[in-house]
Order: sequence, then structure tokens, then C-alpha cells
Amino acid sequence: MRVCDTIAGLREARRPLRGPLGFVPTMGALHEGHASLVRRARQECASVAVSIFVNPTQFGPHEDFARYPRTPDVDLRLLESLGVDVVIIPDADEMYPAGHVARVTMSGYPARGLEAAARPGHFNGVATVVAKLFAIVAAQRAYFGQKDAQQLAVVRRMVTDLDIDVEVVGCPTVREPDGLAMSSRNRYLSPDERRSATVLYRGLCRAREAWHDGERSPGALRRAIVGELLLERVVRPEYAAIVHPDTFRIYRGRVDGPALAAVAARVGTTRLIDNASLD
Ligand code: PAF
Repeated sequence: MRVCDTIAGLREARRPLRGPLGFVPTMGALHEGHASLVRRARQECASVAVSIFVNPTQFGPHEDFARYPRTPDVDLRLLESLGVDVVIIPDADEMYPAGHVARVTMSGYPARGLEAAARPGHFNGVATVVAKLFAIVAAQRAYFGQKDAQQLAVVRRMVTDLDIDVEVVGCPTVREPDGLAMSSRNRYLSPDERRSATVLYRGLCRAREAWHDGERSPGALRRAIVGELLLERVVRPEYAAIVHPDTFRIYRGRVDGPALAAVAARVGTTRLIDNASLD
């Protein structure tokens, strides 16, 4: 496995690799969710590239950029064991050198509402770094987790709108045995908070049950989620919504198309998100 900290180094290491090349962008602090993306890329592609970069432009001024977990040695050992061919692990000056001013701006749905409203500028930061990584790695396929469903929709929209020649592959959320979606941020949780955090999944299950019982009112589906969240003292709901999975437009009347239940909540001081497809 070649490990590169420069863009030039990555381009050189990538040249002899057999195609198709699969790419898994990450911010490190890898867990089983990331491993599942790498395994899928390994199955479907002749070569696999991974990036590890905690991207400053997608964090707001009061978010957790400084304390975001950084575990490069453990991450690299995992990636080696998964048979990854090349890793790029650049620093911020390599990705955004002095004078760097170009940005990708996502100016409408799916980069509106929910995460976009809660984290202003977040998706422009994601789109910018992902566009740069796509240009650097030049992979044929890129693998993203469904756990960050709005991010996945934003990346798909960006790839379509900018005519980027990469196939975006969405992969299922990997959950702990008790249902908690795997996330690098789960490690912020105290043991008590960790127990309460399963309520996001339980809330989504309530909405799914209601859906299977024939409920099509977005308000009622939303209430099924929030009602569950409110059972946990340390959990503060931020939003629960029923959205179209591609556009992320919120259903206001009857749900009459493909539907995704999306939820965000603070568990103690940790902000968690999750979602579930309803159909
Ligand atoms: O999902 C993530 O880890 C990040 O948002 C990504 C896609 C690697 C961009 O920094």
C-alpha cells in the first residue's frame, strides 16, 4: 500500500494501477462503516484508493474541527489489512495552499434544509473538497455511506451538474448490534449517552412501522420519531423530517413518492444524524 501526503505523489502512485479504480473519501477515525465501503470498492474494482483528510472548509466556526478524532496510524493499518492500493493523507496546506480561492457552491436542493440549515456552508465545503479529490484521484467509482444521505444526494447532484466522470455508489449504513449507526463521532459519547443514542434508530423504526401500517401523513410520521426521542432525557431533537431521497425536499402534504425519514439530535453535546428509507 502506497501512502502519499502530496497530490503529486498520489498522481504518480495512481498511474500504474489497473482500472477500474474505486475511491473511498474519508476524514479518518475509521470504523466498520468505512471498512464496508472499502470492501465494496475492493469487490467491484481492480484497484482501490482512499483519502484521509479532515476537511476544515466543511466545519462551521463553532463545530468540532479541532477535536475531530485523528487516528492515522490505526487507520493506515486497517486500510492495509483491507487491501487498499493507495492512500492520500494530505495536510490542509496541500489541499488549500495560500491563494486558494475556488469554491464549489451548491445553491439549491438537495443542499437546502436539514443539514444545510443546521450547518451553514457545510455542503459547499463538502462539495469543494470532494470535487478536488475527484480531480486528484481520477477514479471511475466513488463510494459513500447512506448514513450521510443528504451528503450523498449533494455529491450526486454536483457530479451531474459539473459533468464529473465518476459513478457515485451509495452503500448501506452499518449499525452497531443495538441499531446505532456507526459514526466517528460516536466516540465522543459517555457510556450513558451511548445507551441513549440508540433512540435515533428507535425513532426511525417507529416511523417505519407507522409507514408499513399505511401512515402517509408526514406530520404523523415525524411525530412518531420525535415522540420516541423525547423519551431520553439527554437527547435534544434538532429535526425530524420526511424527505424525497434525491432532492431532499420535505414532504408537507401526503407522502406520495419515494420517502426517507431523516433525524438529527444532540445526545449530550454530541450531534448525531441518522436516516431510514421508508419504502
Ligand atoms: O463523509 C465524510 O467523511 C466527509 O464529508 C467527506 C465525504 C470525506 C468529505 O470531507
